[in-house]
Amino acid sequence: MQQILKGYENIEKALSEVGSKRYMLVCDTSFPFLPIKDCFHPAALFNGFTPNPLYEQVCDGVRLFNENQCDAIVAVGGGSTIDVAKCIKLYCRMDHKENYLQQEYKDSGVPLIAIPTTAGTGSESTRYAVIYFEGKKQSVTHESIVPNYAVLEPALLKSLPLYQKKCTMLDAMCQCIESLWSVNSTDESMLHAKIGLQLIMDHWHGYIEDNSEEDAQNIMMAANYGGRAINISQTTAPHAMSYKLTSMYGLPHGHAVALCLPEVWVYMMEHTDKCIDPRGKNHLEFIFECLGQIMGCDSAYKGLMMFRAIMFSLDLPSFKSNNIEVDLDILSKSVNPERLRNNPVWLGDVVIRRIYNRIII
Ligand SMILES: [Fe+2]
Repeated sequence: MQQILKGYENIEKALSEVGSKRYMLVCDTSFPFLPIKDCFHPAALFNGFTPNPLYEQVCDGVRLFNENQCDAIVAVGGGSTIDVAKCIKLYCRMDHKENYLQQEYKDSGVPLIAIPTTAGTGSESTRYAVIYFEGKKQSVTHESIVPNYAVLEPALLKSLPLYQKKCTMLDAMCQCIESLWSVNSTDESMLHAKIGLQLIMDHWHGYIEDNSEEDAQNIMMAANYGGRAINISQTTAPHAMSYKLTSMYGLPHGHAVALCLPEVWVYMMEHTDKCIDPRGKNHLEFIFECLGQIMGCDSAYKGLMMFRAIMFSLDLPSFKSNNIEVDLDILSKSVNPERLRNNPVWLGDVVIRRIYNRIII
């Protein structure tokens, strides 16, 4: 069971409870500028990875971990940093002569402490990690990689660039919304998602516009609730459709997801008769009503309009396709059909192409 601790003063507590004598610190290049940099005295430090981490880079981390006989991992950074740490934990006791991705995953028993420096993915509370092998995205999933401790310190968000704050906040928001309508949702995941989305609605403005510490604390909690929600329900079509937008146009993850989400949302509201959730069309319509209410609106449709209004006020940079038809062909073929099964309304090839067309126009 994961422990969630609030405030940097708990870093010491987490480290001592883990009982580590030689831990490895996994961090990114922003680490030397963080206000908590002096809280750590690792036996080894690993920062040799890129924003979309490669399998080979994770292997370097595994080697460093074992060469230094480390007994725990502390990850300080954004989603990619935490994902790298999760993979090092998973792979460090496996057969190093074989490809880790092809071996059976088991709990290595190595304690992992995650300290996020962004508020978005909620990776500090999920069993998922994303790395790239031979140019292809690999989703690594195992129950044992949920970090043993997540330490949430909002002061770490203060120096984030504004565009990054907007994108990561949008990722958290979309994760809460997608979790609510996912066919895998449970009472527990819905509760996490509702709390997370409500916190975002109450605090996004102060977080983005005023850089307020109180709002940052609430957005950090919201992102964590979003992470806990998708850890149960998984994400749905907007996430599945976003990955190629990120790789084709270099759009940050949260920006790409937030472009897809309202288009998927409107299609689903107009096609509840194509609902594939075993709980039926009435359940989905109830979820849309809930979404509207949490977003402070008196109807489901106005909830969607509110999402669009927030996107508009965030004033995100635009991007351009050089050849819409060619891009539409590539984008439409990119979506993993496996992931679409989590979406409550079935989206066929024609619909996916039409949705992409509305996004890249
Ligand atoms: Fe996400």
